Amino acid sequence: QDDMDRRWLGTPIEELNRMPQCAPPLSHLKHTASHTVTVRTDLLREGEVPQHYPSKFKDAWDDVSVKMPCSEKNLFSVETEVPCISCLQDAILRYNMTHAKKWDFTTLNLLCTEVRLVCQKIRLNSQKMKETPIPLLKARQNHSLTLSQEQISCLLANAFFCTFPKRNSRNSNYPEINFHRLFEGYSFRKIEKLKTLLCYFRRVTQTRPKGLVTFTRQCLSNPPNWESSKTLMTRLHITCEGTIEEHGYGMLQVDFANRCVGGGVTGHGLVQEEIRFIINPELIASRLFTEALESNECLIITGTEQYSKYTGYSDTYKWKENHKDETPRDDWQRRCTEIVALDAIKYRNFLEQFQPEKMSRELNKAYCGFFRPGANRKQLSAVATGNWGCGAFGGDTRLKALIQLMAAAEAGRDMAYFTFRDAQLMRDVHEMHTFLTERQTTVGRTHTHTPRPTHTQTHSL
Ligand code: AR6
Repeated sequence: QDDMDRRWLGTPIEELNRMPQCAPPLSHLKHTASHTVTVRTDLLREGEVPQHYPSKFKDAWDDVSVKMPCSEKNLFSVETEVPCISCLQDAILRYNMTHAKKWDFTTLNLLCTEVRLVCQKIRLNSQKMKETPIPLLKARQNHSLTLSQEQISCLLANAFFCTFPKRNSRNSNYPEINFHRLFEGYSFRKIEKLKTLLCYFRRVTQTRPKGLVTFTRQCLSNPPNWESSKTLMTRLHITCEGTIEEHGYGMLQVDFANRCVGGGVTGHGLVQEEIRFIINPELIASRLFTEALESNECLIITGTEQYSKYTGYSDTYKWKENHKDETPRDDWQRRCTEIVALDAIKYRNFLEQFQPEKMSRELNKAYCGFFRPGANRKQLSAVATGNWGCGAFGGDTRLKALIQLMAAAEAGRDMAYFTFRDAQLMRDVHEMHTFLTERQTTVGRTHTHTPRPTHTQTHSL
């Protein structure tokens, strides 16, 4: 009976590791072959706006860099001044002549006054765009990219005005970056999404943001041998209250992603990933340069800031108010917020996920996100996660919880699991975890004995 009233079970959350307390000191930030840094690292100071590096724009219109609006090769040159609101629509269409007949701006028009306020302030300062070519984070390549929050705001302003060239084709292996789909049709969701984004633009135009954000594409080349693993389970805190972003601060927070990171953020989508991308809009910049994730890859984003508070979810989502993010910064001037984009498999057929190759794919995906090469386990933050792949993607919560627990154990991290109000799931996963830890069951044994439902069981699931 007592257990029925519990709001959390397992290890108290205060005992789990969080950043920045758990982390070792960072090495000096520098530009290397595997890490592109677009600011002057020698001039990086707390509380000061970082300086761009290099200061002269190198025009790269090639297969390894983002095609920038300010490039000479861009046929639709970008003006430095944003036009008045009455001409905004015309201006967006001028950069996108081929789409003039198809795009509509109903939603944008509904937010006219709001948009006008922000437009007056955003200048497409082409000077700020004249920086290092931005490398594409391509499939099967480990690479990091560190940008300043101010550079990101400039990229996002361009995305808002749909100025990124060569990015409007639907069959590309890159996510959509220009915002035009957010402006079309009549939709309550899009109005609330735009309000959230306008809150961000208002903030970054009022005060220049001073930090950096790192985007790391991580590929897993040597997956663990799951069957023979002797690793024991790590600790679990599980709760039916709270959210990953609010109560998992300082932990490695899982983004329930699409292989095209950000999923439907520039369109109609509004579930876990899209919400995270609009309250922390700097995440949206990843869509500019991150090629679709393959099965053994993830994207780690460190340093984004939360600008908005929200209520509701999906159709009931509403922008609530400004959020003042007080997360401390690390030595690279990044907010200690680490998010990992992990795309689960989308299941149409329930039984499919119990196939061994599907389970291995999900184990390796989660492990790729949690594992940090060369790290000391004691210094790793806990993983903050929940029903990964079990909403829009139709997975089974109990199986996915077990998979994530195994991957976290193998990567040497504890876990905080947020069941999103499901108290029964909280008790079940806790019971499963207790069963495994009490018997000192290894990851290998758990792997071999993961139950596969029979047809009769399926009906009751
Ligand atoms: N904190 C904790 N749990 C949450 C939160 C939160 N803030 N938000 C939702 N949940 P879903 P998927 C729980 O459907 O199935 C997007 O379009 C809640 O129980 O977003 O992996 C992506 O771009 C919810 O049902 O993730 C992909 O295309 C569950 O997490 C696709 O959806 C799953 O959230 C991914 O779908």
